[in-house]
Amino acid sequence: MIRKYTFGTPLPTDAVVLSLPAETGPVPFFTLSRDGDRVVLTRPLQPEDCLFGLGESVRGINKRGFLYRSWNNDIFNHTESTDSLYSSHTFLIFFGPDTLFGVFLDDPGTVTWDLGYTRSDTAVITSENGQLDLYILEEDSLTELARSFRRLTGRSYLPPRWAFGYIQSRWGYASEAEVRTVAAEHRKRGIPLDAVCLDIDYMEDFKNFTWRKDAFPDLTRFSADMKQDHIRLVPIIDAGIKREKGYAPYDSGKAGGYFCKKEDGSDFSAAVWPGDCCFPDFFREDARRWFGDLYQPLLASGVEGFWNDMNEPSLFYTEDCVAAAFRRVEELRSGNVDYEAMWGLKDVFNGIANNPEDYRSFYHEVNGTPVRHDRVHNLYGAFMTRATADAFRRFDPDRRFLLFSRASFIGAHRNGGIWQGDNFSWWSHLKMALQMLPNLNLCGFLYSGCDLGGFGCNVTEDLLARFLQLGVFTPLMRNHSALHTREQEIYRFSTWESMRDTLRVRYALLPFLYSEFMKAALSGGMYFRPLAFDYPSDPRAVRTEDQIMLGEGCMIAPVLEQNAVGRYVYLPEDMLMVRFRSPEDYDLVPLPKGDHRIDCSLREFPLFLKKGHPLLLCPGGESTETLDDHTFTALCLTDRAVTYDLYRDNGFDPDPVLAEHLTPVSVPAPAAGTSPVPGVAISALVL
Ligand code: GLC
Repeated sequence: MIRKYTFGTPLPTDAVVLSLPAETGPVPFFTLSRDGDRVVLTRPLQPEDCLFGLGESVRGINKRGFLYRSWNNDIFNHTESTDSLYSSHTFLIFFGPDTLFGVFLDDPGTVTWDLGYTRSDTAVITSENGQLDLYILEEDSLTELARSFRRLTGRSYLPPRWAFGYIQSRWGYASEAEVRTVAAEHRKRGIPLDAVCLDIDYMEDFKNFTWRKDAFPDLTRFSADMKQDHIRLVPIIDAGIKREKGYAPYDSGKAGGYFCKKEDGSDFSAAVWPGDCCFPDFFREDARRWFGDLYQPLLASGVEGFWNDMNEPSLFYTEDCVAAAFRRVEELRSGNVDYEAMWGLKDVFNGIANNPEDYRSFYHEVNGTPVRHDRVHNLYGAFMTRATADAFRRFDPDRRFLLFSRASFIGAHRNGGIWQGDNFSWWSHLKMALQMLPNLNLCGFLYSGCDLGGFGCNVTEDLLARFLQLGVFTPLMRNHSALHTREQEIYRFSTWESMRDTLRVRYALLPFLYSEFMKAALSGGMYFRPLAFDYPSDPRAVRTEDQIMLGEGCMIAPVLEQNAVGRYVYLPEDMLMVRFRSPEDYDLVPLPKGDHRIDCSLREFPLFLKKGHPLLLCPGGESTETLDDHTFTALCLTDRAVTYDLYRDNGFDPDPVLAEHLTPVSVPAPAAGTSPVPGVAISALVL
């Protein structure tokens, strides 16, 4: 059951697909109060209550115990104390022995979530604008709550099948020759690869929709050559358009009046990578269409995927903000400068980027009326994604394209995936990436993943290996790193062969993982889930923070610590451990419910299978297009014959019907005395 309550006159956000009448009675589960414009929802928390949701946010799977703020934030250097990240996903489930409901604030402005922070026994959710649709969801189980939220907000984005392959990326690939070398180094060593991302270096002076003719002379030929080798190019597009007369996207944007305006009607501008930029008003349909059409030449040159970046939007500085900072310097020059003044000055300069004043200084046009940006801030990236996805649908309605964005809001999950923003090569960020995944899925973002290896600072070999072992299971599997950091391609490291074998496991599992993903996406389910969803009455499972469920019958438990050669794993039921070294070399160990110490040297990683749920391994390949997905080895802990419905399609159909693509795969019961591992069926299948 979904109930809707409306406060004020909310603006259209495109977050929901169900149109429900607003209720007039009191909001259940919360005490409602007003504080000026603010709408405040207060709810006592029982000691055993857990909170799931908020998608992209720091800390644990259970969000209880911290203060989060929904405000899309370009925050390169984020840590455990950072209250907002690049995206805002304002859906939360309250779950406890006597508690089960979900709350969604369809509110694109600032929302704070004091989840047992000020008082450990109280949750306080505050909408700063107080103009919102509030939805309360009630179902009988966590799983049904997640489904109900998807019914409300619509089907998750479906990427093309090739987007499940390994993607190599780095800020700094400066020429076609360099990208070709990177690709060749992978192919030479048998390291699977499906795509290479082009970062801002492919552009002329970092200007969107241009490319450097000296370094990338013929994009159509380059893209065609790479595709011959089953490798796609995935260019980046940023939100800002450089303010420069004679640069076609600026001229056409200016002529159409498509940029965000200041109060005096002039175009708002701020510096990002190309320098002074104007910002498309993605809230206007005509501006979305104009911006989307700018992708067409790149699409026509053979590009089938993009990543949209800097779309919080990130503002490095505005002239006004810099001028104010220099005024402060002048003031100090003539006075007595003590340490407080100096530190204050440092704060002034640190506060120049993404300054709240700047976000209050420009406007969008919504149905002909100006709306101040900060009131709808969290929609900006989502509406950029919408502009791009709509353009893809216009360009070729019969294909799926790859699209992932940095900033997002609920609703964007129908148009693209997301990556988890600029993480660091830190062990703590490996754990955070794992913990974010189930909550992203709950909010609809199934196609997601982190920058494997870490974006900022220098990776170490062991950390990269462990990141890749998590990445084997994330739908978006991309190794990405920042300019001037240590080179992070697998082949740079002495243990590249074992990392290659990790990637080969991904490709051997790819038809199975793709099947699990598509089944989840097409049925409104979750690809990754907290253990609580499968074992709601097992308190140990409910509180597990470093293991997550995958698909119908799997659980992953990656090694997350430096120098660890194993870890403790909690099994909520009897399971089969598959400990991989390569697709051909793995251990099968049936384990009883309970706690286990699992050895995992740096080249080993485990996957756990529920009883009766088979795992399918194909012979693999160096790209998703050259995979043999007809020949499988099925592994299953079972004492009887079982059937698995394998989802297969052409990999690009935009609107597949689930039932039409399921092939029932029969796994016979283990024949007595023949299986090398008692109780485990190992079957060769040809489909
Ligand atoms: C931003 C992106 C990062 C990209 C960089 C340069 O920091 O998050 O992925 O490499 O910009 O474009």
